[in-house]
Amino acid sequence: MDHMGTQIADIDRMPRGGPRASCLDRLLETDRLEYLDRDSEGDAAMEARKRSVVRALERTGEFFGHHDKFAEIALAEIADVPDPKVLELGAGHGGLSRRLLDAHPTAEVTVTDIDETSVAAMAEGELGHHRRARVQIMDATAIDAPDGAFDLAVFALSFHHLSPSQAARAISEGTRVAGTLLIVDLPRPPAPLHVMRLLTMLPFAPFVPFVHDGVISSLRTYSPSALRALAAHADPTIEVELRGGVLSEQIVLARRTAA
Ligand SMILES: C[S@@+](CC[C@H](N)C(=O)[O-])C[C@H]1O[C@@H](n2cnc3c(N)ncnc32)[C@H](O)[C@@H]1O
Repeated sequence: MDHMGTQIADIDRMPRGGPRASCLDRLLETDRLEYLDRDSEGDAAMEARKRSVVRALERTGEFFGHHDKFAEIALAEIADVPDPKVLELGAGHGGLSRRLLDAHPTAEVTVTDIDETSVAAMAEGELGHHRRARVQIMDATAIDAPDGAFDLAVFALSFHHLSPSQAARAISEGTRVAGTLLIVDLPRPPAPLHVMRLLTMLPFAPFVPFVHDGVISSLRTYSPSALRALAAHADPTIEVELRGGVLSEQIVLARRTAA
């Protein structure tokens, strides 16, 4: 069935560039894991690489204004809600949640990640002591919360970490627990431009963990048509609004509508 249908028979075989991805686009993907997704138990060198990636994400987010920009997009979605409840999934370092709490005087934010070390670090910092924040471990594909518990769920720069079947589950879960699911992720440029972007990064990938993960992220990022197909696979009643350009972040707003 095509991406306008409700289900793709084997969603995990869908190319990251979408059901009708070009031949070149189909070559630009990988099953290789980012350092962030690797098991580092008993492997101090791997854990150090993971921490270096999380630190770099936090710093580049500060430097390029990503945390502010993503917080602004999230705040626009809850502008009409008096005391909004927000869930951040895949928070990593918590930079976005800190911005949300600073910018909104009454918002309550549940700050989560699947990675225990990242969650422990956030719980030890400012977020762990904020009276309107809760920090906890959470898997975006199996959210431990009742239906409609949040006004907004935000998943920033993390969606590409998920396989297609996990990604569809995250859309299903995010729209189950929140009125709106906001996904912000990297752009997937047209294949020739994508090749050029990868070529600028590849020489540094063996030496810089952040660039290593950046290359894999780029290869794993979903295109707009893939995002639509994932949402349709999750539940045909989920409505998806896509924003963003060829080179700027992709913004996905997903909501459940009446069947
Ligand atoms: C690239 S980081 C993004 C961190 C932060 N949101 C940012 O914008 O910089 C991706 C994060 O997604 C988390 N992650 C990966 N799979 C996840 C899952 N199934 N559920 C929740 N978080 C997940 C990782 O642990 C990591 O912290």
